[in-house]
Amino acid sequence: MDIQSSASKTALMVCAYRARASRWPKPLFVDPWADTLAGDDGHDIARRLDQQFAPMETWLALRVAYLDRLVAQAVDRLSIRQVVILGAGYDTRAARLPRAGVSYFEVDHPATQAAKRERLGRLEGYPIDAAIYVTCNFEREDPIERLVASGFDATEPALVIWEGVVPYLTEAAVRATATRLASGLDPRSLVAFDYVGKKLAAGANLSAKDQQTRDYVGELGEPIQFGTDDPLPLLYDCGFRWVRSLDFNELALELLGDYQRDRQFRFQHIALAAVRTPVAGWP
Ligand SMILES: C[S@@+](CC[C@H](N)C(=O)[O-])C[C@H]1O[C@@H](n2cnc3c(N)ncnc32)[C@H](O)[C@@H]1O
Repeated sequence: MDIQSSASKTALMVCAYRARASRWPKPLFVDPWADTLAGDDGHDIARRLDQQFAPMETWLALRVAYLDRLVAQAVDRLSIRQVVILGAGYDTRAARLPRAGVSYFEVDHPATQAAKRERLGRLEGYPIDAAIYVTCNFEREDPIERLVASGFDATEPALVIWEGVVPYLTEAAVRATATRLASGLDPRSLVAFDYVGKKLAAGANLSAKDQQTRDYVGELGEPIQFGTDDPLPLLYDCGFRWVRSLDFNELALELLGDYQRDRQFRFQHIALAAVRTPVAGWP
């Protein structure tokens, strides 16, 4: 997205998947705004991806539900008062999971953030002031500097959610951003992000379906650029000293109660990172 100035289309696409997952008979979460926010364009982009990668809706639903739970744990059990959403897209957690005294900072590329604010302005009843909006291009700007300029308190802990963004950045931007998070956040903070495998990012030796998925996302203007099979060495280099990775099949087993081989959860994971071991029970 660095080279272009247009708003993210993948953000609209995942918003459409959130809307669809909200309509499950037993939803893992409900996002009442996602349907309208995604609009016809978002739903259309998602429908076209269905043909290449049918498990996308389930993948998204698990990711959102897990990260929602992390937010609830942080604010309800650990009294964390700052939630930072990096590359927020059409994220509505500030409105869906509000808590007295908790500040939500939505950080995004200026083009996507402007498009989101424009769509939010047309949404009846949306609490637009629930978040503090911060622009940042991770390819060349320092997120901590941008956050602090908007009132973020770097001496207090934060939960940082970097959802659906890392694959679209260059490795240099991932490293620079992660390094600033490790050095600039209060050490009690926790960073959560999802990542894809090296093979998908490299576009080498993929199944026909995976190759089509990769191509389709690239056609949307946001090519997959970064993947890893083990983020620990990179996170160590960046200054983190506690790292955990979660597999989406494990998440599906826990949240949906089953394992299905054809879900194609081969290349996607969630990583949790902190500069020191989190307190007991967290996460
Ligand atoms: C797939 S969307 C995910 C949006 C949101 N986190 C979600 O899960 O619904 C990718 C997001 O990454 C952001 N992004 C991509 N490249 C970026 C960059 N260089 N700087 C800042 N944000 C970027 C896009 O603006 C977009 O919001």
